[in-house]
Amino acid sequence: MKRYHKEDYPLEQIRQHLEPGPIVLVSSAWNDEINIMTMGWHMMMEFTPALFGCVISNANHSFELIRMSGECVINVPTLDMADVVVGIGNCTGGEIDKFEKFGLTKTPADIVSAPLIAECYASFECRLYDGSQIPKYNLFIWDVVKAHVAPTPKHPKTIHYKGEGEFRVAGETLNLRKKFRPEIL
Ligand SMILES: Cc1cc2nc3c(=O)[nH]c(=O)nc-3n(C[C@H](O)[C@H](O)[C@H](O)COP(=O)(O)O)c2cc1C
Repeated sequence: MKRYHKEDYPLEQIRQHLEPGPIVLVSSAWNDEINIMTMGWHMMMEFTPALFGCVISNANHSFELIRMSGECVINVPTLDMADVVVGIGNCTGGEIDKFEKFGLTKTPADIVSAPLIAECYASFECRLYDGSQIPKYNLFIWDVVKAHVAPTPKHPKTIHYKGEGEFRVAGETLNLRKKFRPEIL
């Protein structure tokens, strides 16, 4: 294995190396209003219940819809949707209908009010599990109550945001299953 020479790095740019992925589209609904926002700051937190955490700025129009309803759908787009992903993150649902503007299709969810996005290969229905960190960090902790995933493609080309307008493209996989202790798989 190679050893690296490392140099001091600006703290405000560490996201370029630590930012999780994939980028997702968060759909929300409250009081007859439906919206979508782009989101990159998220993490898995527990297997059962399936807990998922994410940071949603209170400056976003989605924040109120999501906080009031206590629900959302996390939709995972693929590389072919990259322009739409950026477009959705560049405008606010307070002024426009983003489903209409970006030609996306709403599909009713099974449990929550927010719709699934048909053009995304995976959609996860979420109910608020722990709102205690919202006031301090805008951190929502969700219980994923229903998962919808397309069986193909097996390895979708997801996009992972690095900051500065740059994305990493996933799709290549490495299977080291045989080297894992079974209990940590
Ligand atoms: C690539 C990308 C990643 C983003 N990640 C986040 C995020 O993790 N959290 C967040 O609050 N906003 C994030 N945003 C910004 C929101 O998507 C953006 O403010 C959007 O306009 C909010 O829409 P709304 O006002 O209709 O809710 C991101 C935007 C882009 C383009």
